[in-house]
Amino acid sequence: MTIQLDVSGMLARAVPHGASPDRITSLAPRLAAAHAGLMADVAKGILGFREFEAQAAERARMQAWAAAHREGLEDVVVLGIGGSALGAVALRTALLPRDWNARTKAQRGGRPRLHVLDNVDPRSVRGLLELVDLPRTRFLVISKSGSTAETMSQYVLIRERLAAAGIAAKDALAFVTDPAKGVLRPIANAEGIPAFEIPPNVGGRFSVLTPVGTLPAALLGLDVDALIAGATAMRDRCANDRFRDNPALAFAALQWRAHLEAGQGMHVLMPYSDAFRDLAPWFVQLWAESLGKRTGDGRHVGPTPIVAVGATDQHAQVQLFMEGPTDKTVTFLDVEEPEGGELLIPRDGPAELAYLGGHGFAELLRAECRATAGALATMGRPTMTLKVTRADAWHLGGLFMLFELATIYAGQLYEVDPLDQPGVELGKQLTYYQFGHPAWQKMQATWDALPPADPDWVL
Ligand code: PA5
Repeated sequence: MTIQLDVSGMLARAVPHGASPDRITSLAPRLAAAHAGLMADVAKGILGFREFEAQAAERARMQAWAAAHREGLEDVVVLGIGGSALGAVALRTALLPRDWNARTKAQRGGRPRLHVLDNVDPRSVRGLLELVDLPRTRFLVISKSGSTAETMSQYVLIRERLAAAGIAAKDALAFVTDPAKGVLRPIANAEGIPAFEIPPNVGGRFSVLTPVGTLPAALLGLDVDALIAGATAMRDRCANDRFRDNPALAFAALQWRAHLEAGQGMHVLMPYSDAFRDLAPWFVQLWAESLGKRTGDGRHVGPTPIVAVGATDQHAQVQLFMEGPTDKTVTFLDVEEPEGGELLIPRDGPAELAYLGGHGFAELLRAECRATAGALATMGRPTMTLKVTRADAWHLGGLFMLFELATIYAGQLYEVDPLDQPGVELGKQLTYYQFGHPAWQKMQATWDALPPADPDWVL
């Protein structure tokens, strides 16, 4: 069980404008300060995503409840958005067999399907309701704030449907929310609806290893203990300020340096693994919403993360990565042991395809990963590779933690607060205004001052 970060392809010996060993050495004080900043946040108690010990009792309560309530379930539906949804999708894709929801109940070993409704497009909402049988479905309403319009509108609709079907809310819903704040908590208390805590010191995009991700995982019978063990091991491995001994710090430092010193602020995460393909959108939200900010002295900073999947994107985005602007770094995710073992390509194909015969699909995928890294290096494009032994809960937990810690370090380096998201508030408030929310009618002046569409330019 290992997670390694190979940074050779980011170095000056590999690519122009790469990091030289001297530069890495000279960054030591800056990295020590970034680590000290993280430890100061730990001391302030604001990095709850690392505090697995403090959350053990709530996790055990959640696991016991899930074990007692998964029997007979046909569907689990997550109602949530952003950090309250992307982790569940990453967990489902990584830890359940492909096309889980399309499998028969027997193929699923009697376990439920898992749906994540992270939008308010009526096509999706209606489509999901057409699919599920309410008496055999558990709806998980997941919202840290307990007020997000998208999730709350879904909740109100589901309540109405449950009432119409004569199903008690406490038998079909579970809430994952702040212990005190928001609309959901008093409802849970009043009606006995099962409710699990997102600790106050864990923000949405850092919450996958709280019941936000672990409740759906536990209802699906996934190994929550292994997830937490992998994350704990990575947290402990990263508890130092040494570039070589702390992969989260090294990842953040190299991305930040590439951005500032080589103009490479587009950060591609490219898993060569279908199991980890939905880890990339989860990372994108984490990196983007945490780091795209205004600094204290008014500078607009932050990298732009990009999702790619190997080998699929070799036939889509790699042309851009090779010959487009030199503004990107690419991080590969390479899995050593394929799930279910190797699958051989038969030898009896046409003569022109004889070179494939007898090799394995995983062997081909990994060869393509090395080939893409090599090809990018020939064009002077920097890459890193995260190598994991296998795509299981322990390694996924470790990767979640590595990226979360890297995000905190990057916040220190970019000089922004990675835990807030002031830039998304105005859009929310203008939505509330349009819907007549009494608290947001004060947005009228802002709304009225927005540049109107000019009919002359509506083509
Ligand atoms: O990372 C974040 O804080 C956001 O992406 C939130 O997760 C998202 O806005 C949903 O918020 P909430 O969980 O409060 O409904």
